[in-house]
Amino acid sequence: MNLILHVWRQKGPKDKGRLERLEARDISCDMSFLEMLDVVNEDLIKQGAEPIAFDHDCREGICGTCSQVINGQAHGPQAKTTVCQLHMRQFGDGDEIYIEPWRARAFPVIKDLVVNRTAMDRVVEAGGFISVSTGGVVDANAILIPKEDADTAMDAAECIGCGACVAACPNGSAMLFVASKVAHLAKLPQGQPEAARRVCAMTDAMLKEGFGNCSNHYECEAACPKGISVKFIAMLNREYLKALPRTMKDQGK
Ligand code: SF4
Ligand code: FES
Repeated sequence: MNLILHVWRQKGPKDKGRLERLEARDISCDMSFLEMLDVVNEDLIKQGAEPIAFDHDCREGICGTCSQVINGQAHGPQAKTTVCQLHMRQFGDGDEIYIEPWRARAFPVIKDLVVNRTAMDRVVEAGGFISVSTGGVVDANAILIPKEDADTAMDAAECIGCGACVAACPNGSAMLFVASKVAHLAKLPQGQPEAARRVCAMTDAMLKEGFGNCSNHYECEAACPKGISVKFIAMLNREYLKALPRTMKDQGK
């Protein structure tokens, strides 16, 4: 199939940027979206032009690196699918496709489709971990965890940190991302000792990094390639309310 692409080109963070019209020729419907871009880039390189810069790593839906808004939708038109797992059979011959980077204040564009997502790393650094010694494999198995809690924790832990929730939200909110990190640890006994400190520190970091607040548009859940539910945002709010009196007491207030 042949396609017309309108790709966001931006030389660097200070460049204004613009959409560039490019042609993608002889594309197989079995190619992934990123493989289609590889073909376009090979053509550009042959012509002596600058290839399109885009992020990718695993290309199997687990690293969260591939971050593109396709025809106005973060990760494109297929539900619960990362850009690297999106295939060209989702499009038709002659289609025009608009490809842009994640758009959010906390994700400045580095080049073309590549954005700086280190703000999310700093939110995780603020508290998305446990400091207790978890011992060996045997110790982990010695702590019994109700099946329902383990399942909920695993559902939240599916988050791959891609940032599509932020890109899809009109407020650039990272609450679904933060909620998934807080919830997966809050549901496990190993996450309990630091639960109050964690939720406050991660929420503070989220606000400091320029992410907005949730106003219940639910676009995050619709864009999430892992189907993380907005119920975790409710859980984040509950954890925060539970933590406030404890952290205020610790601070002597
Ligand atoms: S919650 Fe979903 S959309 Fe947001 S970072 Fe995690 S996997 Fe990506
Ligand atoms: S490249 Fe790893 S999830 Fe897409």
